Amino acid sequence: MQKHGYSIRQFLAFFRAADTKFRVHSPFVFELANAVLEDQRWFYAFSDVEAIRRKMQQSMLVIGMVDYGASAPGGEAARRRLPIRQIARRAASSSRQGQWLFRLVQWQKPQRILELGTSLGIGAMYLAAAARTATIFSLEGSPDCAHVAKANLELLGLNKQVTVKTGPFQENLPASLQALQTVDLVFFDGHHRADATLQYFEQCLPHVYAQTILVFDDVYWSPEMTAAWKKIQQHPQVTLTVDFFDLSLVFFNPDFKSRQHFKLLPSRCKPWYF
Ligand SMILES: C[S@@+](CC[C@H](N)C(=O)[O-])C[C@H]1O[C@@H](n2cnc3c(N)ncnc32)[C@H](O)[C@@H]1O
Repeated sequence: MQKHGYSIRQFLAFFRAADTKFRVHSPFVFELANAVLEDQRWFYAFSDVEAIRRKMQQSMLVIGMVDYGASAPGGEAARRRLPIRQIARRAASSSRQGQWLFRLVQWQKPQRILELGTSLGIGAMYLAAAARTATIFSLEGSPDCAHVAKANLELLGLNKQVTVKTGPFQENLPASLQALQTVDLVFFDGHHRADATLQYFEQCLPHVYAQTILVFDDVYWSPEMTAAWKKIQQHPQVTLTVDFFDLSLVFFNPDFKSRQHFKLLPSRCKPWYF
């Protein structure tokens, strides 16, 4: 999502506080940082997804949006019409986020993935391209957006792997969790309200296990989202969090004896930490 004043101030504070892999003592977190933040390889899939992003950013087509998320006052779904190019610029995961997701998935090798918020399918394409044998459910409230996402996934031959479910998360999340039973990776990228985020997090908990990773986008989007993130970090089932600012990761592995929270940046951002 597009960043604004609050997020920029939060980033400056994050930057000051963050470590790089060279200051991390946990072998697990060091390995994670190497796999996700430090890997510089370019994969063919990146070019494919970015070509679709460019197409979306140039599209003059206007589609209907049914927004059940942060911009829906009083819980009412807001309906409006928006150009696809504006959705692509404002709502889609950035290429850095997409490529971090791709690398995370390559490292974790999840088989059951759930995404809350498909939008035009940019995140779903990165997830699916990295996990060709995984089952992926991606939930989207806006039927037009879901339609465009499905077409984009089809262009890359990823449509059989990703099921885009149209409708409010409130309705589709319980059914999707029921169908998947356990989840390996959940990407929370929609409905940027604290109460909703915490509710979806709680709903996922009966379906997580030691190897599950929950990925949150936009925890620095607003003060209430940052407060929700802090509550998630303190949840008794959470044993480790690793925050990359643009994506924030939650782990449940009981082998991590004392709960730890890391803020990490790629080592090139703080070369003096080497
Ligand atoms: C930030 S965009 C998702 C971006 C996408 N994950 C990507 O990687 O490009 C959030 C999407 O979530 C959808 N959304 C937000 N709240 C929702 C809700 N409660 N139910 C269904 N869809 C919702 C919006 O319609 C929007 O398309």
